[in-house]
Amino acid sequence: MRNSEYIKLTDSGINLLEYSELARLEQNGGSSYYLFDARKLRENISNLRAALGHKVFLSYSMKANPWLAECAKEYVDCLEICSPGELKKVMENGWDLDKVTLDGLLKTPEEIGIALQKGVQRLSIDSLCQWKMVQECAKGSSRKINVLLRLTSGNQFGMDMEEIVHILERKSGSQALHIEGIHFYAGTQKKSAGEVKKLFQYLENALDEIEERTGNKLELVELGGGAPVPYFLEDDRAEYQKAYETLAECVRTLSERISIVYEAGRILVASAGCYVSKVIDCKARAGGKIVLIDGGTHQLTYYGAVAGRKTPEIKSVSHGADMCADEESVTVCGSLCTAQDIMARRVKLKKTEPGAYLVFGLAGAYSVTECGSDFLSRTKPAILLRRENSGLEVLRAVEEIDFLQF
Ligand SMILES: Cc1ncc(COP(=O)(O)O)c(C=O)c1O
Repeated sequence: MRNSEYIKLTDSGINLLEYSELARLEQNGGSSYYLFDARKLRENISNLRAALGHKVFLSYSMKANPWLAECAKEYVDCLEICSPGELKKVMENGWDLDKVTLDGLLKTPEEIGIALQKGVQRLSIDSLCQWKMVQECAKGSSRKINVLLRLTSGNQFGMDMEEIVHILERKSGSQALHIEGIHFYAGTQKKSAGEVKKLFQYLENALDEIEERTGNKLELVELGGGAPVPYFLEDDRAEYQKAYETLAECVRTLSERISIVYEAGRILVASAGCYVSKVIDCKARAGGKIVLIDGGTHQLTYYGAVAGRKTPEIKSVSHGADMCADEESVTVCGSLCTAQDIMARRVKLKKTEPGAYLVFGLAGAYSVTECGSDFLSRTKPAILLRRENSGLEVLRAVEEIDFLQF
């Protein structure tokens, strides 16, 4: 694998953003917005494909960024969804439902019924109870429904070996269901090469044991390995890169044995988005300057972030800023009434005053959806998409709290 591939996948490109562009985007987005980039997503998909090898089918894990699922459609083989809401969105996006896997810990009979009726053709089975539910729902179906038995990686998801063997030994009564193989999700942000190796060893051992004990030849493994993204300046990038390369190698090796669908979220979209928030106020403190932005941790949080103790990539962009302007060490706080609302402590930024924009890199994955954006009933930021050929699109307009007009 070329050294540059991982660097490209995790390069946010925020240094390319200039004041004039941010000011123009503010007209559509308000004073805090997410900006996603379709070209970067396409490039990331192509880089990941190159790393995993041509035998592996690539699936986009919608939960990482539902707003980019429509752009991903052109470039990935399939899509992983986990809820009726995600199903509704993919239908609106025009996805071919036979490319969709309905995954997820919790599924009700109604949800399974709707998914099957709409044309979803692959489901993961998370428990014995879900297996029975899917059997019931599939009764009378005129077509075969493909299922994957989810093997746990030790948490609340999936089933253990005995449960999987139990299903495979008694599957004969389920004419409408075809058990294709195993679903396995190792967990997100796997940043240790040693841990990645162990997880794949566990998976390979499990496949051997299932085949030996049940006499079944499995056809497919759909898996997510949690390719890691170094969000913080303190992160050891070489360690992350090694984990990523080990993961890619393990997937390639496994694909020699069995068909693989690789589910990817964070690694594809983290660097395809940034978050922009305007500086509204600054305060002098004995411990150093505080910069207050319009947004905050209710709009952007990074996996592993705790009250600004680690430093994400931030760029300060001001009107007419001198490229050689002095740097200052500041603490960046958000607009919430909680002392935890700190984006970064003692981060070095170009001299920053009210009116400047702070751009946060690697904000494309789990950003819009995972935050407590209702806290304090503040305005919700807009979501903007830079398309490859047709320019800027407002995917979600700013949700103003228009109390000033009462
Ligand atoms: C089943 C499953 N597959 C894939 C993913 C995507 O993982 P990541 O964003 O780490 O690539 C997730 C994330 O939670 C998941 O639950």
